[in-house]
Amino acid sequence: MKWLSVLLQAGLSQAALRFGCSTVSIQRLDPLVEPGAIPSAHVHQIVGGNAFNATMTGDIGEQGSCTTCAYTEDFSNYWTAVLYFRHENGSYKRVPQYPNAQLGTEGHDAPDIKGGMTIYYTQKDFNGNGDKYITAFQPGFRMTVGSPTTNTLEAAKANKGLRYTCLQTILTRGSETPDLPKKPCPAGIMAIHHFPACWDGKNLDSPDHQSHMYNTNLGAFLEAGPCPASHPVRMPQLAYETMWNTTQFDDMWPKDGSQPFVWSYSDNLGYGTHADYVFGWKGDSLQRAMNDSCMFHACGSPGAQGILKTQTVAEMNECAVQNTVTEDTEGWLSELPGQKMPMKFTA
Ligand SMILES: *[C@@H]1O[C@H](CO)[C@@H](O)[C@H](O)[C@H]1NC(C)=O
Ligand SMILES: *[C@@H]1O[C@H](CO)[C@@H](O)[C@H](O)[C@H]1NC(C)=O
Ligand SMILES: *[C@@H]1O[C@H](CO)[C@@H](O)[C@H](O)[C@H]1NC(C)=O
Ligand SMILES: *[C@@H]1O[C@H](CO)[C@@H](O)[C@H](O)[C@H]1NC(C)=O
Repeated sequence: MKWLSVLLQAGLSQAALRFGCSTVSIQRLDPLVEPGAIPSAHVHQIVGGNAFNATMTGDIGEQGSCTTCAYTEDFSNYWTAVLYFRHENGSYKRVPQYPNAQLGTEGHDAPDIKGGMTIYYTQKDFNGNGDKYITAFQPGFRMTVGSPTTNTLEAAKANKGLRYTCLQTILTRGSETPDLPKKPCPAGIMAIHHFPACWDGKNLDSPDHQSHMYNTNLGAFLEAGPCPASHPVRMPQLAYETMWNTTQFDDMWPKDGSQPFVWSYSDNLGYGTHADYVFGWKGDSLQRAMNDSCMFHACGSPGAQGILKTQTVAEMNECAVQNTVTEDTEGWLSELPGQKMPMKFTA
């Protein structure tokens, strides 16, 4: 009856983590795709543990001393490219991020999460694991999703986990598009990245940082398809939501009506949207959480008791890494950092 008990146990857990992480760094570093490059090719916004640097390797959960994420045992790093606004006069300015309305709200006097992202670790969907045991990532695990070289709408549509939402209000969800919104969005733009969740069971990384994983997710937190024999191990369904606050640029929208936002790797269509992950949960903390059946705040976000240890937003916001690449990330710039090639804008 061993088989039955394993199946029953798998059937019971349905943990879904959703938590905020404030910005730990905005910098031109990419330890995953361009390890050791100082600076890397384009600017990233990074959240998570303070072990982040150009060459990070090994068990990151043992290296960090603080994290910008709500869960104090999570020293992982999560990052994406940075969105810029391109003024008609040719200058660029970084678009600031803002936090999810429902996270980090411990009280009226508490500070807001500083920039950052919302991170999800779900099972096969929000409500269950499809009777498959969810195996947590292991020390040294890393992966990317999407590619800055994706340059057709067809290819962008094919990866259903990579989308944008034109935010009518801070709470708008759904209405996802594979390309950057073409009209002003009253509450900004949400960039969404769902990672693959099927693992080959052997490799913590691969030369392209993707082929050790297989994608069966359908985006929008829908129930994912089954894992194939080549990648049989179901891992947590990792997803990022990044809210870009575009409102300061509302009255600078180009007179010709063209879409003015551009990713830091010179992509004003948005097809090349991509994201990176370096696992760094301490010890067995992520597996402990995935074995549980808690949902969202019940897993222990600030102010709640749960299976995971938490910290306050003030503590999250205090954690930072020392910049090794010192470039202006606040002011108006004459070009996107590292992007000397002329922009290929389509009318
Ligand atoms: C990155 O961190 C590791 C581990 O703490 C350290 O050994 C390495 O020297 C650091 N590398 C850089 C480029 O700072
Ligand atoms: C472009 O416009 C912005 C906003 O008014 C301004 O701060 C910046 O200096 C301008 N750049 C140039 C090259 O005129
Ligand atoms: C978005 O940016 C505007 C302009 O800088 C600011 O007033 C507003 O508070 C920001 N919104 C959020 C939700 O952070
Ligand atoms: C998670 O559940 C599996 C299967 O029941 C068990 O073998 C493992 O020890 C659990 N791990 C943790 C960290 O709770």
